[in-house]
Amino acid sequence: MPRIRQSIHGQWSSRWTFILAATGSAVGLGNIWRFPYLTAENGGGAFVLIYLVCVALIGIPVMMAEILIGRRGRQSPINTMETLAIEAGDNPHWKWVGWFGVLAGFLILSYYSVIGGWTLSYVLYTASNSFTNATADGVGFIFSDLVGSPSTLIAWHSVFMLFAIVVVARGVKGGLEVAVKYMMPALFIMLLIMVAYSTTTGEFVRTLKYLFTFDLDTLEKNTGSIILAAMGQAFFSLSIGMGAIMVYGSYLQRDASIFKASVGIALADTMVALLAGLAIFPIVFAYNMEPNEGAGLIFKTLPIAFGKMPGGTFFGTMFFLLLAFAAWTSAISLIEPAVAWLVENKNLKRRYAASYIGIACWFLGLLTVFSFNDLSDFHPFSFIDPFGDLGKKTIFVLIDSLTSKIMLPLGGIFIAVFAIFIMSREATRDELDLGDGFAYKTWRVLVTIAPITVGIVFLNAIGVLT
Ligand code: TRP
Repeated sequence: MPRIRQSIHGQWSSRWTFILAATGSAVGLGNIWRFPYLTAENGGGAFVLIYLVCVALIGIPVMMAEILIGRRGRQSPINTMETLAIEAGDNPHWKWVGWFGVLAGFLILSYYSVIGGWTLSYVLYTASNSFTNATADGVGFIFSDLVGSPSTLIAWHSVFMLFAIVVVARGVKGGLEVAVKYMMPALFIMLLIMVAYSTTTGEFVRTLKYLFTFDLDTLEKNTGSIILAAMGQAFFSLSIGMGAIMVYGSYLQRDASIFKASVGIALADTMVALLAGLAIFPIVFAYNMEPNEGAGLIFKTLPIAFGKMPGGTFFGTMFFLLLAFAAWTSAISLIEPAVAWLVENKNLKRRYAASYIGIACWFLGLLTVFSFNDLSDFHPFSFIDPFGDLGKKTIFVLIDSLTSKIMLPLGGIFIAVFAIFIMSREATRDELDLGDGFAYKTWRVLVTIAPITVGIVFLNAIGVLT
């Protein structure tokens, strides 16, 4: 009787809480740290526009599928996939999709926590006026100092992970609500202030051109890898493809509209990413920096602005603090599927489940810590010469690429196939509550096409189609 199925972990206090929590999961380092540097790495405009198309045509429909599966199953993604598959008369092995997602979340959190740690350390740098009137070089040195010191990185990584564990241990509903309700709008306002400052650098128009002109030349040089990166970023930024939004959906009440929620979450998420781009690139151009600064981009650019603008110490401190909060509200969604499973199947208390997973993830994070110093010249695939690029990647870059470019889209394929070909039409129609007309049919078409598109992007990226 799916209609009366209840989650043993409780429910959100209102549909609004779900939207806040899911937006909290979506908005994080992915928007403000990852989006700008990937944009630069992939040459600007073409990447951004492909990303936007992926969000609209793949991201939103797949997010709806993920939420509806979660709400239908009302358990951890692993058990939800199994239960719904059995219910539909199909193979219980679908639960492996849940496991695959748990693994992806685990891998992502391992490095996410390290970058969250960078953010925390920047709260202190800014608060102690380290950036006041600093030059681009000066700001760059502070960054290299930080990432060159494993012990400092480990300390901040530990603080970040500890906080994530504490919030998950208390249940995502407790700590989360306040954090998201006040911190997210505050972060949004801070970004607006940053964008306003960036308009004074004189490079705003150039930034608009850089971000929004579809530059066919750049695209032609690297079509496959740019499209793959843009699609991966869409999955990453929306938190889809690994069960995070599914487990949040499992706490969602029946009467909430999955369609409206998904569109709202995606809009908010995309706005934040674009604002981050508009805040950062004018600074890059004004100070003649290389856009392609890699993972340090925001940490090398924004502090210059904070060092110059009136009230910069205050705004800068607030900005990094709010970014750390945004990162926490994302981080907890990365381990919630695993925690929910341990609670359901191993009868563990939440606090133990969260601690075990967090600690294991902390250890894995050390690989990322060392990717920026002692192991920065260690490229695990350097022996594979023909793949050139792959041979030059550090462990951090490999984990990041593996998860966002391969695991999440692959998870998305399974979720889409499951929603269309395994679940009954009645079940999905009932969950979506869009009637049986145009809206529902459009959703079905988009979710049917999504796996094909993702497949083509995969093949294209490895050169099969070129
Ligand atoms: N979306 C988050 C961000 O942009 C990161 C994140 C949280 C995530 N949960 C996820 C990414 C699940 C992929 C899957 O920072």
